[in-house]
Amino acid sequence: MTGFPTLRMRRLRRTPGLRRLVAEARLDHSQLIWPLFFKSEGNATPVSAMPGVMQHPVKDAGNLARRAADLGLGGVLLFGLPAGKDEKGSGAYHEKGVIQETVRAMKRAATDLVVITDVCLCEYTSHGHCGIVRNGTVDNDATLELLARTAVSQAAAGADVVAPSDMMDGRVGAIRRALDQKGFPDTVILSYAAKYASAFYGPFRVAAESAPQFGDRRGYQMDPANGDEAMKEIALDLGEGADLVMVKPALPCLDIIRRAKERFGGPIAAYQVSGEYTMIKLAAQAGALDGDRAMREALLAIRRAGADIIMTYAAPDLKLET
Ligand code: PBG
Repeated sequence: MTGFPTLRMRRLRRTPGLRRLVAEARLDHSQLIWPLFFKSEGNATPVSAMPGVMQHPVKDAGNLARRAADLGLGGVLLFGLPAGKDEKGSGAYHEKGVIQETVRAMKRAATDLVVITDVCLCEYTSHGHCGIVRNGTVDNDATLELLARTAVSQAAAGADVVAPSDMMDGRVGAIRRALDQKGFPDTVILSYAAKYASAFYGPFRVAAESAPQFGDRRGYQMDPANGDEAMKEIALDLGEGADLVMVKPALPCLDIIRRAKERFGGPIAAYQVSGEYTMIKLAAQAGALDGDRAMREALLAIRRAGADIIMTYAAPDLKLET
C-alpha cells in the first residue's frame, strides 16, 4: 500500500459533506425506540434520577404516540406503574392494567406506531423481584405462566411486540406457545436475551419504582464477567422462537453486541439503559462535556458495534447532526 504523502487520511475528513459521505455508521430515528413510563392517574411528573424523563399518566398516551409517530421513531417501549402491587404482580396481566390501557390509547391515536411492551413482574410485585418468590428466591417455572399471561394480555390490548426482560429460563418458549394458543401468532417477541445484572439500571428503578425490596437480581440476570454465556442465551432464545434479540446494557457490552451480530446476524437490538443516559445528562449539566455530542457518540458506537435497533431515552430529542 502506498503511504504518505500520496495517501493522506485527512482528505476525506476535510468537509462536513465528505465526512457524511464516508460515514459507516449512521443514526436514524426509524431505528430508535423510545422507552416511556406510564401511571394510571395524575399529571406528568419528572423522574428525579433521570434528567428529561417523566412518569406519564395514561391520559397523555395518545399525544405521546402521535409525537413518536411524527418524529418517525422506530417505536415506543412501555413500562407501567400500577396503582397497587402484590406478591403475584397481578397488575401486569390485568385486562384494564395501566399498560393495557396505554397500549389501547396509543394504537387508537397512531395505528402505525410500533408499540412494544415490557414483559416483567418487577414493577408489579410488592417485593420488586421479576417473578414469584418462594423460599426467598424467584421460582423460575411458577413465573413462566404469569409472564405468558402478561404477554397475552398485552397482545390482546394491541401491542405489536412483547419484550420479556425477566431473564427466567424458558420464558420465550412459554410466551410463544401462549400467544399462538390464544390467537396471536403474529405478535412479535423481542427478548432481552443477554441481560446483565448491571449497576447501570439504578435510575430506571427510581423511574419505575421497581427496586428489589431484598437481595438483588444476580440470581437471574447475567454476570458482567461473562461473554460466552451471552452467546448461549441468545442461541436459546432464538431457538425458542424469539424474533428479535437484545443486548443490555449497551455501552458496557459493545463486545457482546459485536459478537452477537457476527454470530447470529441481524437484527440485533441494544438498550442504552437509564444509567448510561443519565451519566451523559448529568455530566452535561455539570458543564463537563457537550451532552448532544456525547449522546451521539455513544449511540454511534453502539451502532458501529453492530446494533440495528437502539432503545434510548434520548430518542425524542436527539440532535442527529451538529
Ligand atoms: C425490568 C427492566 C429493567 C430495565 C428494563 N426492564 C430493570 C431491571 O432489570 O432491574 C432497565 C432499563 C434501564 O435501566 O433503562 N426487569
